[in-house]
Amino acid sequence: MKKIFLLFTMILIVLSAFSQNNRSIKPGEIWPDTDGKHINSHGGGILLHDRTYYWFGESRLPRGEKDRTNYGVGCYSSKDLLNWKNEGLALRVISDTSSLLQPGCVIERPKVIFNKKTGKFVMWFHHELKGQGYRAALTGVAVSDKITGPFKYIRSLRPNAGQWPVYFPEEFKTPIPEEARLKSWSDEWIKAVREGLFVRRDFTGGQMARDMTLYVDRDGKAYHIHSAEENMTLHFSELTDDYLDFTGRYYRVLPGESNEAPAIFYAKGKYFMFTSGTTGWKPNPGRLSSADKISGEWKALGNPCRGTDEENKTTFGSQSTFVLPVRGKNNKLIYLGDRWIPENLADSRHIWLPVEWENGIPVIKWHPEWYLSKIK
Ligand code: GAL
Repeated sequence: MKKIFLLFTMILIVLSAFSQNNRSIKPGEIWPDTDGKHINSHGGGILLHDRTYYWFGESRLPRGEKDRTNYGVGCYSSKDLLNWKNEGLALRVISDTSSLLQPGCVIERPKVIFNKKTGKFVMWFHHELKGQGYRAALTGVAVSDKITGPFKYIRSLRPNAGQWPVYFPEEFKTPIPEEARLKSWSDEWIKAVREGLFVRRDFTGGQMARDMTLYVDRDGKAYHIHSAEENMTLHFSELTDDYLDFTGRYYRVLPGESNEAPAIFYAKGKYFMFTSGTTGWKPNPGRLSSADKISGEWKALGNPCRGTDEENKTTFGSQSTFVLPVRGKNNKLIYLGDRWIPENLADSRHIWLPVEWENGIPVIKWHPEWYLSKIK
């Protein structure tokens, strides 16, 4: 009997060793979870909690661009960043046609942060309404006591209604004559956009919120960072102490520069941000900017990619989504990006690369396969 038990235990150990079999990161390849299925968590971010990493992202249907809807927000957990267990949906669409979160809506780029004061996990996500394309430009918020959910959907909104941005010059608050009629991309239009054309247009109803991320600053203040003003300008919008609402203070960042896919991090005494340009699912040249204070001023530093010209033109075939500081590695950083496959978004690939440094500037190089020891 004892022998059989021993044999059984050994078989279990061997089996579990086999299920934990990702030993390296292979950007662009199928990344099997502990059930052997490609990780369906896109445009997402990672939260470290109690020595475990939780990866939240878009849980996509195995269908493509024509049906961009999703089931909700997926959650995976891992202790080693290589082997991820599917924890199921942290937030689900709501099967009720009176809910904004009904099936058929679009949930993109979800991020989760932990609020030390309330002990709750707070999720925000880019939310588009069923049948309305990308017109609504809302952000949704949900809350949970447990990191893996179920998150309770609270509401979706356009941030900062009735508020002017911090540092917004007095003269920008008055419309210029006929501004709604300016021809898109004409010099006058670009100047008007830089000088707040869309901030004025959206003042009453609230500012647009599309591609987004969350960032908790070292003082515990959290920011909702989103593409606003028809994707022309990023807004850094301060969240209330419980992270469930906006305070009404927000900063315009890189006005008129068309940035999406923001991923923020703090390193070597500075704030850095990776972004992309606005070409939908198609990758474009990555961008880096930095600031001494989160509120700016943010300065563009060019393309952070250090590959061939072709690779640099597409950010190694990816679009940024997050930068992850790795525990126990002196907060070394990993760049997380998505290689979108519009025909089958669930199959989109994860492009994880170590953040490397060149004269104080964070850069990204291609590694077809790399080990976490690389970032020790
Ligand atoms: C990208 C954006 C994605 C998704 C896509 C839709 O620019 O970053 O999150 O919205 O457009 O075309």
